[in-house]
Amino acid sequence: MAPDLPIYLDYQATTPVDPRVMRVMLPYFTEEFGNASSSDHVYGARAAEAVEKARIQVARLLHAKPEEIIFTSGATESNNLALLGVMERLSAQGDHLVTSATEHKAVLETARKLEKKNKLVTFLPVDRYGRVDSAGVDAAITEETVLISIMAANNEIGTIAPLEEIGAIARESGVLFHTDAAQAAGHIPLNVDAMKIDFASISGHKIYGPKGVGALYVKGSAPAARISALICGGGQERGIRSGTLNVPGIVGLGEALELAQREMAQENRRFRKWTELMFESFKEFYNTVSLNGHPTKRLAHNLNVCFPGIESKALIHVLRNHLSVSAGSACTTASTEPSHVLRAIGLENSLIYSSLRFGLGRFNSQEEIDYAIEKVQWGIEKLRKIQGVS
Ligand SMILES: Cc1ncc(COP(=O)(O)O)c(C=O)c1O
Repeated sequence: MAPDLPIYLDYQATTPVDPRVMRVMLPYFTEEFGNASSSDHVYGARAAEAVEKARIQVARLLHAKPEEIIFTSGATESNNLALLGVMERLSAQGDHLVTSATEHKAVLETARKLEKKNKLVTFLPVDRYGRVDSAGVDAAITEETVLISIMAANNEIGTIAPLEEIGAIARESGVLFHTDAAQAAGHIPLNVDAMKIDFASISGHKIYGPKGVGALYVKGSAPAARISALICGGGQERGIRSGTLNVPGIVGLGEALELAQREMAQENRRFRKWTELMFESFKEFYNTVSLNGHPTKRLAHNLNVCFPGIESKALIHVLRNHLSVSAGSACTTASTEPSHVLRAIGLENSLIYSSLRFGLGRFNSQEEIDYAIEKVQWGIEKLRKIQGVS
């Protein structure tokens, strides 16, 4: 059977809601519409119960306690809350933040905002695979350092950070450790205890849950001691994040993470096989193709490759009716600026503009992957003909 076109291969930008997640969410839009804070009556109590179940589901995935989970509108808000909230709350302890050059804009722009508030920020470089060196993190720590924020897995090139090493360094130095786990939670095992993580941001729409919902893990039983609220009001979420809770979204986030936890190992085996097949096939018809990101310490569903001499935007355009792929982060596709991640791993502009990200996901099939390989070859040949290269 011919696959439905175009084939979606941009699962790192966003995922569809899994129908199993949708089914669990649906009643909370209609008959179970209660406000989780109005638990004096049955409607509110049932909504509160559903939120608490989701809190347990999220906590279980991270090996955290349910009371350590704060629901937010997504990883952007969680990152803002962690960075701004901690640097403000603990300003008496110091004014220095350590982060990396390849973070998502939700961290980078927040770090720049902190600089404008006279905080000091160190943006650590990464190696050619996009990894932060834990010794570099250690060396960057000063008496003034309050927080380290290093993403768990990169959204463009899939490189996974040495979280356990960084966590150990942070804990030993008495510095707090935040990780943006938007691309990692539900895709790779995370254990906030073993990894000594103090704050972790997660997002619903990267793991087959809804958009506009996420969470921040805040270690310990007294979150207000380490973090200031950004959104003030009715005092929901232990006073850290006011606002009426998005009950259907939260229910969806919990269910999505529970499914992800159950299916992660099996899915990753499938994705690894497919990304290897794609890369090996690309090499057969384009021998200068290269991999961006770490060859082994990477997300199984990410394949970021460079076809030197082929402009990726032109290839994406030629493939438009067949494949939905992207040149990189969804947050920067509108800009013509070269990817800050690819620049940080040392690629020159011509190679950056020749790079393409394939994000595989739960609803892809072997037929789709075979079709994608065939179409990439077809697209490249078409472009080379237009360019007059045979
Ligand atoms: C690494 C990373 N951090 C943060 C975000 C932002 O997440 P959200 O869309 O939930 O705000 C994304 C997704 O775009 C991401 O990939």
